[in-house]
Amino acid sequence: MKKDKAKILSLDNFINFALYDKKKGYYTSQNPFGKSGDFVTAPNISILFSEMISIWLISFWENLGKPKKIDVIELGAGNGELMKGIINTIKNFPDMHDCCNFIIHEKSKKLINVQKKNITSKKLSWKNKLIFKNNYPKIFIANEFFDALPVKHLIKKEKNWYEKFVKLLKNNGEFTLKKIDIKKYKKDLPSQILKNNKFIEYSPLSLKYLKEISKTIKLNNGGLLLIDYGFSSQGFRDTLQAIEKHKFANILGNIGNRDITYNLNFNFLKKFISNLKNLKSLCTTQRNFLLKMGIIERAEIISKKLLFSKKAEIFYRVNRLIDKNKMGELFKVMFITKNNSSFKLGF
Ligand SMILES: C[S@@+](CC[C@H](N)C(=O)[O-])C[C@H]1O[C@@H](n2cnc3c(N)ncnc32)[C@H](O)[C@@H]1O
Repeated sequence: MKKDKAKILSLDNFINFALYDKKKGYYTSQNPFGKSGDFVTAPNISILFSEMISIWLISFWENLGKPKKIDVIELGAGNGELMKGIINTIKNFPDMHDCCNFIIHEKSKKLINVQKKNITSKKLSWKNKLIFKNNYPKIFIANEFFDALPVKHLIKKEKNWYEKFVKLLKNNGEFTLKKIDIKKYKKDLPSQILKNNKFIEYSPLSLKYLKEISKTIKLNNGGLLLIDYGFSSQGFRDTLQAIEKHKFANILGNIGNRDITYNLNFNFLKKFISNLKNLKSLCTTQRNFLLKMGIIERAEIISKKLLFSKKAEIFYRVNRLIDKNKMGELFKVMFITKNNSSFKLGF
């Protein structure tokens, strides 16, 4: 970051700096996955998660009429566990495997190297822009991708709107508000939303991704399967949080060493998608999705001949994914596809 110029950053630019600065960023300077890292995502908890996503992918491919070529694109692949599980599972279905190009869209060079070490497949490539020359149908998968994108906070006081900024100090930061012209935000936020809310948390970058992906889906067919934590009730909430060493921490402290995330507002996203026209979105909890995809039955099958301790371990991990008090209800699964699609497996 250049000196003097960027002492005060909008909240989303601050988050972008803290997470993705080339030298100091949380995702760009280290590998936050695994035991010593800050979090463990679903594909790192149980291989059955990736298997269920793979079965869903195979069924959707069949529903699309088994196209001879299809792009399966993971957004933000972390340490690559999900893509590895998907490729290994789909290999068992050669009809589909032959038709697939697997693609990872990843911003962190450090994590791209981790992914390259973790996955070996001639069918896998990396793409830093979601621009496609071919017209194959495309299925996008995003597990805990959108929660890692920067958000803005807008606040209404009396008749005026303000945006949250961060003043950068030596080792930390300080929040400050700046008065804004709300008209400039209207392309993302319809008047009804601005009328009914005094606080708005939203991610302009998420909306940009959703617009681009939606355009591709309308043009080439396919869909987006989005799995993330969030809420589906009305209104907006301040859900921004920082995590360091598995504990909540101050967002503005120890910059570059804390993960900063937020909870997705699925109700807002649903409205946003419906405004993009000719698309539909289905939404359920991770628990419902995985149960409908048959995760328990699969766990029974793979653990049949195992020792009790191994079987217990498998079910303990599945439980973390589906228990209402663990990831089961907080995590939601959203499927976005063309309006005329009849596919609703898992929902
Ligand atoms: C929370 S991790 C999720 C990892 C993985 N999907 C999983 O389930 O384990 C978020 C990932 O998204 C990547 N990422 C964040 N912003 C990105 C962007 N704008 N473009 C591409 N990748 C991005 C991060 O580097 C990281 O790999």
